[in-house]
Amino acid sequence: MPDSLTVTDNRTGKTYEFPISYGTYSDNGACIRALDLRKIKGTEEDFGLLTYDPAFQNTASCKSAITFIDGDKGILQYRGYGIDELAEKSTFLEVAFLILNGELPSPDELEKWVWNVTHHTLIHENIKKFIDGFHYDAHPMGMLISTVAALSTFYPDSRSVTDSDNRRRQIHRLIAKLPTISAFIYRHMIGRNYVYPDNDLSYTGNFLAMMFSLTGRAYRPDPVLERVLDVLFILHADHEQNCSTSAMRGVASSQADPYVSLAAAAAALYGPLHGGANEQVLRMLQEIGSKDHIPDYVKRAKAGEFRLMGFGHRVYKNYDPRARILKSMASEVFEVTGRNPLLDIALELERIALEDDYFVSRKLYPNVDFYSGIIYQAMGFPVDMFPVLFAIPRTAGWLAQWEEMMMDEDQRIARPRQIYIGPEERSFVEVGNR
Ligand code: ACO
Repeated sequence: MPDSLTVTDNRTGKTYEFPISYGTYSDNGACIRALDLRKIKGTEEDFGLLTYDPAFQNTASCKSAITFIDGDKGILQYRGYGIDELAEKSTFLEVAFLILNGELPSPDELEKWVWNVTHHTLIHENIKKFIDGFHYDAHPMGMLISTVAALSTFYPDSRSVTDSDNRRRQIHRLIAKLPTISAFIYRHMIGRNYVYPDNDLSYTGNFLAMMFSLTGRAYRPDPVLERVLDVLFILHADHEQNCSTSAMRGVASSQADPYVSLAAAAAALYGPLHGGANEQVLRMLQEIGSKDHIPDYVKRAKAGEFRLMGFGHRVYKNYDPRARILKSMASEVFEVTGRNPLLDIALELERIALEDDYFVSRKLYPNVDFYSGIIYQAMGFPVDMFPVLFAIPRTAGWLAQWEEMMMDEDQRIARPRQIYIGPEERSFVEVGNR
């Protein structure tokens, strides 16, 4: 059987044959090239056939070797390694190296990589000044997006995006500085002094110290919470061509520098239908308030009054594997922090929803955001900071996708087509005659 698609255009009676190509798995990633369809023309002058795909529901924008998701089976892999195994055996920085380079690091490579990231954690003192300029109650994502974009003005060398050594330098900087900027933003919100990075601590240990240290007291992160945060970071490191990653690739495709491109990705992440959902889940659970109110709340969601936040996913039509890991980790956290009462509401909400035909028939399962917020809150992070906690690890994924795009000869500036449905050409009428 040939690997091709035969199409007949009933307008002209002409038949066309297009090759079908595959990704790694033959049952996932079979595609034709959209440009082949342009050969299909109603008349000689015709522009050729386009595909209409609002929100890119069935369009592959790139070939990528970074992350594999099988949404029907609930599988997530980075560079071929299953997310469960990575969450159990690896560290966030090791996973970031894997995502960026394609292979797990050797001991020497890991040491060098950790050293490089650790030694770029400081930020220019002027950055503190403009963090100072934000209102204390500004949303931290707004501050993060603006501050990351402003880094572009501190590192004008980053504009040499076609130079791979230069790209690597910016990658070290961004992965290293995101936790520092995020912690400074938090300290600004609560009116506390900024705590500088401690290079003797791990990536997540240092972040916790910068967030929660009190002046005059040596801060040592709780090892369980440090590890749980590391696992949370692993789970959020990449998720192939989602809204924010597509923003990163889209903006960077114009050869804009990685700081402004990453700020655009973070802006996309901020929305409540994407990375802002973990924040919304917490607010939803607080609003529900008690298990007795769940049936009524679910009824209202089914009636279309609102959506159950943390439920449903464009790709997963099965349990999100990240949500499963987080659900099982919650008890470890609560042993240290005390139980978050919202967990009981979340477990009951999940139970009721997964028995309800509305959610079952639409394949709406808990996604990663459903349990992450409950854990973050128990660890002492304010709700506003949740999307920031998503952006820190996703920085590794955004940068890996950027790097892959820059090396991909198929890629050029991102520029979708449209189907024009406005008026046909007409003459201008002077204002007095309208
Ligand atoms: N609650 C209630 N109904 C829902 C939900 C939900 N959370 N999600 C989808 N539906 C319903 C829709 O109303 C629609 O029903 P209909 O066919 O009767 O009209 C059907 O399920 C399909 O929904 P779509 O919006 O077409 O699905 P889409 O793939 O476009 O949306 C999305 C995916 C945005 C994640 C959606 O499920 C949603 O809004 N979920 C809540 C927000 C959320 O948790 N986002 C985090 C996603 S994970 C992440 O970004 C890290």
